[in-house]
Amino acid sequence: MRLLVTGGAGFIGANFVHYTLRRHPEHQITVLDALTYAGNEASLAPVRDSIEFVRGSVADAAVVDELVGRSDAVVHFAAESHNDNSLRDPSPFLTTNIIGTYTILEAVRKHGVRLHHISTDEVYGDLELDDPAKFTPETPYNPSSPYSSTKAGSDLLVRAWVRSFGIEATISNCSNNYGPYQHIEKFIPRQITNVLAGLRPKLYGQGENVRDWIHVDDHNSAVHAILDKGRSGETYLIGSDGERNNREVLSMILELLGQPGDAFDQVTDRAGHDLRYAIDASKLRDELGWKPQFTDFRDGLAATVDWYRDNEAWWGPLKKQVEAKYAAQGQ
Ligand SMILES: NC(=O)c1ccc[n+]([C@@H]2O[C@H](COP(=O)([O-])OP(=O)(O)OC[C@H]3O[C@@H](n4cnc5c(N)ncnc54)[C@H](O)[C@@H]3O)[C@@H](O)[C@H]2O)c1
Repeated sequence: MRLLVTGGAGFIGANFVHYTLRRHPEHQITVLDALTYAGNEASLAPVRDSIEFVRGSVADAAVVDELVGRSDAVVHFAAESHNDNSLRDPSPFLTTNIIGTYTILEAVRKHGVRLHHISTDEVYGDLELDDPAKFTPETPYNPSSPYSSTKAGSDLLVRAWVRSFGIEATISNCSNNYGPYQHIEKFIPRQITNVLAGLRPKLYGQGENVRDWIHVDDHNSAVHAILDKGRSGETYLIGSDGERNNREVLSMILELLGQPGDAFDQVTDRAGHDLRYAIDASKLRDELGWKPQFTDFRDGLAATVDWYRDNEAWWGPLKKQVEAKYAAQGQ
């Protein structure tokens, strides 16, 4: 199988490349990545000789057309992905998430290539903290931020291209991922690397916001299950019942790193901060027989802490700049 992986130098995309080559060394992988601030070629260093890497944008029709034309399937991870950034400057979110997805869709339509579109549970908006409900594929879209609204828009484009033009495509909406190679602007790696760098971790507001954490390898095993057995035109929700509020996650990180439970600062909350996300992944489990491997969040988190401890060369050069950006926002 010749796979085109967009955004393969980012967090989930790079882990997808590693995961795929571990299990399917026969697959030929081409990564298309613009190497924005979020992309890091070093995340692909261990497999650099086994893949083709193309630096370019998913919004560049000529590049996309050429690469899609010589692929059997496209797994589309590339996106602007950070909510906080989308509040400051939404414009790259429109270009990459909307125009980039449109560009991919036109190329897969022209060449008759299978597409799997990676999306987020944030398209559904949020749930109340005391609401027992979870998101299902039938939950209406209700995005809150420029990030989630552009992801919602990209999902709707994919659905329309399936219906109007008969392209072969699937969509997955996954909950919050954690694991190695995640940019240190994101909640879990930011707190871990703060402790490792001798800085105090930062908690938004009271830390009551709940996320449904899933290990990145479980996300990627689900993507493979959908590529193998998913039905075209279908949407699959990916989650592994990992609901935790931010305060709990931070307490676990502090404990794993041998810090006192109160060794953190509370900072201004994110504007419009979604309260709770929770995924009902029964369609994926029942139809495709998928099961997560990382069922103990603490174990997965401990392995992630170890990875950041062992890979300071990967994140160290970014730390000052990321914290300066947050400090300027009082966060
Ligand atoms: N991180 C999560 O918890 C999570 C959860 C669910 C879904 N998702 C989705 O998974 C995908 C990957 O997320 P991530 O956390 O790995 O993001 P990331 O920000 O770590 O990586 C994004 C990658 O896309 C690349 N990119 C950005 N603009 C591009 C462009 N115009 N052309 C080509 N490449 C471009 C970046 O260089 C980077 O390598 C996104 O679509 C995101 O919406 C993420």
